[in-house]
This record gives sequence, C-alpha cells and structure tokens, in this order.
Amino acid sequence: MFDLVLRRATLPDGRTGMDIAVSGGRIAAVEPNLPGAAAQEIDATGRLVTPPFVDAHFHMDSTLTYGIPRVNRSGTLLEGIALWGELKPQLVQDAIVERALAYCDWAVARGLLAIRSHVDVCDPRLLAVEALLDVKARVAPYLDLQLVAFPQDGVLRSPGAVDRLTRALDMGVDVVGGIPHFERTMADGAASVRLLCEIAAERGLPVDMHCDESDDPLSRHVETLAYETQRLGLHGRVTGSHLTSMHSMDNYYVSKLIPLMAEARLGVVANPLINITLQGRHDTYPRRRGMTRVPELMAAGLTVAFGHDCVMDPWYPLGSADMLEAAHMGLHVGQMTGVDAMRACFAAVTENPAALLHLDGYGIAPGCHADLVVLQAADPVEALRTRPARLAVLRRGRVVARTAPVTAELTLPGRPQRVDFTRPQG
Ligand code: FE2
Repeated sequence: MFDLVLRRATLPDGRTGMDIAVSGGRIAAVEPNLPGAAAQEIDATGRLVTPPFVDAHFHMDSTLTYGIPRVNRSGTLLEGIALWGELKPQLVQDAIVERALAYCDWAVARGLLAIRSHVDVCDPRLLAVEALLDVKARVAPYLDLQLVAFPQDGVLRSPGAVDRLTRALDMGVDVVGGIPHFERTMADGAASVRLLCEIAAERGLPVDMHCDESDDPLSRHVETLAYETQRLGLHGRVTGSHLTSMHSMDNYYVSKLIPLMAEARLGVVANPLINITLQGRHDTYPRRRGMTRVPELMAAGLTVAFGHDCVMDPWYPLGSADMLEAAHMGLHVGQMTGVDAMRACFAAVTENPAALLHLDGYGIAPGCHADLVVLQAADPVEALRTRPARLAVLRRGRVVARTAPVTAELTLPGRPQRVDFTRPQG
C-alpha cells in the first residue's frame, strides 16, 4: 500500500492520465491507471502536475524591506544600491530572519520549493549570513535554500571583502559569488573573476556571479568567467547571472562568445522582471530591454533559468514569489511565443534551475523526491498564460499548501455562471 496516490495528472512533458504513487517521501511509480490502494488519494482531474518551481537567483537578505528606511524614488539600480547601503547598518538579525521566513511562506504557497539566494558579505558583522544560515536550517523540512557569498560592494573594491567572503564560506555558505562589473576597472573585474574561481576550485564549491549587469556592450567579464571555468576544470559548476551586457553586444563578438560559454558548460540566469526595469535607463528611444540572449543561449545548448532576483526590496517594489510571473515576463521580453519556446520558458523556472542548483532527486520519476505541485491549468502553456492557483503543493509526499480553485462568478443573463479562464471544453 502506498502512502499517497495522485491520480489523473497531466505532466509537463505532455503525458496525460498519469497516476503518481508515493512511498516514504519518494515517488514509487508513475503509470496510467495504477492499481492498489493508498492511505491518501488526491484527484488532479487532468490538471498539470509539475515538480516544484525553483528560483536560481534571489536576494533573501533584502526581501520585503520595501520602504525601509525610504522607497527608491527613481527606481534605478544605482539608487537601489545607495538605499541598500543606507539600510545595511540598520539591519537587525531577527528582522532579517522574520522577513525571510515570511517570504518562504509565500514561496511554499506558490509551489516554489528551492531558492538560491545571494547574501551580501560586505557587512563586517556578517549579520545577514548568520541570519540566512539560521533560516536555511529552519526551512529545510519544506524548502531547499542555497546561499551564495555575494560581495555586493566588490570583492576587490570593498576593503576586507575577501576575508569576509571566505569567513562566510567557512560558516557554511554554499556557493562563491562575485560582481566583476562593479569593480573599479575592467582589469580589476577580470582579476576578481580569477580570484573567486580559484577560491571555489580550492574548496570544491560552485560559482554563481552577478556578471555584466550593465548596458555596456564592452562589459565582457563573462568571457573571463568562461575562460577561468575552462582553466580550472570547473565545467558545469559555474553560473553567470544577469549577463545583461550581452543584450547590447556586437553580434560578431557574441558569435565567438557563446561557443566559449558552451564549452565551459556555464549556467545562465536571466532575471527578466529586474532586467526589463533596471536596464536601458540611460536610453531615450529605442530603449533596450537589457535581458540577455535567452533563446540563442538555449539554442547553443546552455542551461538557462529565469530568476526572480528581487521582491519588495530597494531594487524592485513588486512580486509575490510567483516564478510564473518571472517566466511570463521572460517569454515576452525574449519574444518566445513559439510552441517550443513557451515550453522552454516553463522549463526555465523548473527543471533548468533545478539542474543549475544540482538539486538531488528532482523530477517526476520513480526514485525522485515526492515534491509536486498541482496547478489549476491544463498544461505548461496555460500555466504561463493564467499564472494559476497552486491547488496543492506537496513536499516529500505531504501536502504543505493548498489554494482553492479560483473562479469568478458572473450574473449575465444567458451566460455561464462561472469563468476560470481555462479554454471552454468541446
Ligand atoms: Fe541579483
């Protein structure tokens, strides 16, 4: 007898009428019309059941601080960085923990069960590092939180940052971060990439850098990142986040760059909600979008994810932990309305970031963790279109969140009494 069977599921790969059996927190079988009883049954009624959403790029130390100590009036990246600088000395550990836990509650309710968060290591107290390590342990039963040691003010530019970054890694932070485009010179940026990749190689850790988050087409630190990955044999362990300068680069140079990135098996994270609002701010018209070249990178075989980056913080006033919002924006900004391209956008907030985070046991197959989300949608494209309710969210085979189906009631003579924005049957 199984612990639970989820019946009549449509899977992201298009299989329909599938039953998913769970035993001991893992998936035991995925078959149509699975015989046998279970202690608990959930009927998906033909709706989409997906592995959880994964956010490959977030800032949990700043989330939900919007308005503290003031709002970002201009909405620009630079005012956001200045505002974060004002806020940092005022941070209190308990408040960081509370806000992060509150965000994780939202995440679970949205079926987002794994997050890679950068944590600023330029504060001499390393308060946010301590706070998020505490949060990581506390949410572990229901959410995988991975932490990146992020030197927001530049690992070379900010005095003592190398020390603080290595201290954060000693304390248990999982990934080496960086911000080469924020160093004082291009040469310092390249030196920071080299130094940080060497630290990661020495310690056997992955790398995930904010890289070339700029409209400057000559910001080419991703080239150095690919080179160092190659030189140090870090293939498949290094991710470049943002890479917005690639939007503005000369096409000929990009035709050389993308194969170098593919050779190093770099991971790529675009953050469409943030890139579309923070980049192109010096432009008049035409105004650049700023998002990196997602379809071209995917076509070259690179693993590309969409991250949320920010929710209600100095850089972004909106958001509610819904990765389908990030995917929806990425789809539009990248003009990815082709059938395969839309499905790739769904993968960019599920299986692709799961691969970048090296999540163990992710997926819907026997042996995988029974982490599943039932959506009020028929398939991944409808999920992108309607950003639907997460009817049930399961972690290790247990329901951890539920949302009632969302329908609107109509009182129009001769028309249906309810609409739920799914395509009428028949
Ligand atoms: Fe970021």
